[in-house]
Amino acid sequence: MPTALIVLAAGKGTRMQSDLPKVLHQIAGAPLLVHALRSGRALEPEKTVVVTGHEAEAVKAAAEHYDDALIFAHQAEQLGTAHAVDQAREALEDFEGDAFVLYGDTPFLSSETLEKMRAARDSFDVVVLGFTPEDPKRYGRLITQGDRLEKVVEWKDASPEERAITLCNSGVIACDAQLMFALISKIENTNIAGEYYLTDLPRLANEQGKKAGVVTCDAYETQGVDSGQDLARAETLFQSQMRTTLTDTGVTLQAPETVIFAHDTVIGRDAIIEPYVVFANGVTVESGATIRAFSHLEACHVARGSVVGPYARLRPGTELNEDVKVGNFVEIKNATLHEGAKVNHLSYIGDAEIGKATNVGAGTITCNYDGVLKHRTEIGENAFIGSNTMLVAPVSIGDEAMTASGSVITKNVPAEALAIARAKQDNKAGFATRLMDKLRAIKASKN
Ligand code: UD1
Repeated sequence: MPTALIVLAAGKGTRMQSDLPKVLHQIAGAPLLVHALRSGRALEPEKTVVVTGHEAEAVKAAAEHYDDALIFAHQAEQLGTAHAVDQAREALEDFEGDAFVLYGDTPFLSSETLEKMRAARDSFDVVVLGFTPEDPKRYGRLITQGDRLEKVVEWKDASPEERAITLCNSGVIACDAQLMFALISKIENTNIAGEYYLTDLPRLANEQGKKAGVVTCDAYETQGVDSGQDLARAETLFQSQMRTTLTDTGVTLQAPETVIFAHDTVIGRDAIIEPYVVFANGVTVESGATIRAFSHLEACHVARGSVVGPYARLRPGTELNEDVKVGNFVEIKNATLHEGAKVNHLSYIGDAEIGKATNVGAGTITCNYDGVLKHRTEIGENAFIGSNTMLVAPVSIGDEAMTASGSVITKNVPAEALAIARAKQDNKAGFATRLMDKLRAIKASKN
């Protein structure tokens, strides 16, 4: 059955106390909306309509950055969830299949749950996702008969008996798209909030002889974000889930609670992650690599057997092939280090390629920026870059070449050559003793 997603993202999120629209607040480096869209992707939707409202342009830009095939519908005034879904009507006018409604501020829905809902569509015309939270607060309550859903009652409109029900509405709902829009046309706003409630849909379906049913999931999955505290809690939950997933798949985290992951971090089994490591977006660490303490990695790839840190910084575009060593206080950006290369201490390597088994000495800097343009440094295989070499790019160092410590290299170095680019040393015999005697005499004359 073809599927369409309708993702509601029009709300302002007043309780966030922020100028940023709620759905653009981030968990693990990705906006809430992107988490929601990614959950929905499990259904392999043919069409995804994002309903924007507050700060529509900013929301659209962030969503398009994630997926350029999205369709956007605008809800100028937030008149309720049914009214929000109705904005997708035109986009889905000819769509034959199911529509799933998700909230852009609900980041943790699992693919298993969405699949369960899809399977339940074989038995029900309308499927609502329910959950039983520890504190049912002001969620809508599900009035059920077995797995059949009679209706959803909003907390504001519920009787004391209905409020005592603990099975709550997550807001996620699935139904044939055209049936959904037909039923929405019948929804009125004659309720305490004066809103068009999408939650009237199951009752209306039942009244037409259709069947509404409930699928349930863990309360974790349906958590929305309404406030700064919710966001912080969601971040904590995400991180703890990620730690569990990784340790369950054979990754060693020496102090799990000190390591921060991004939404898309990929780490292979038998990798070792020491304490206080931060993974920003876009990092892949292969099996058997070690990331030592206090390192920061972003948009980079670390191949098996490589060791990074302690105190290393890998910036976007860093590609470490197998068995590479990057040591303390080394920063690398947009550079490929081939198998067995070593940059062990206090270096900056940017816009560069370093050949197999090449050793880069302490304090080496690729001077890649002239104030306007960036330039590349190419270093061949088995080369030896002496400590404190300045490589003024664009420059290349051939295979098995060497640079002398302290050199400022401004010209290409051919293979197997030694480049020395520093002032010549001049030893003056006895000069040190004579100088010290003179200085001591000056000091004595002043006392
Ligand atoms: C809704 C449900 C409630 C459920 C709860 C779960 C309704 C009437 N009530 O209540 O049963 O327990 O979610 O969290 O559906 N939105 C729009 N445009 C609007 C209104 C809302 O885009 O006009 C979006 C919001 O940005 C949000 C989502 O829809 O992402 C839910 O809206 P919200 O006002 O938070 O609904 P609740 O009152 O929480």
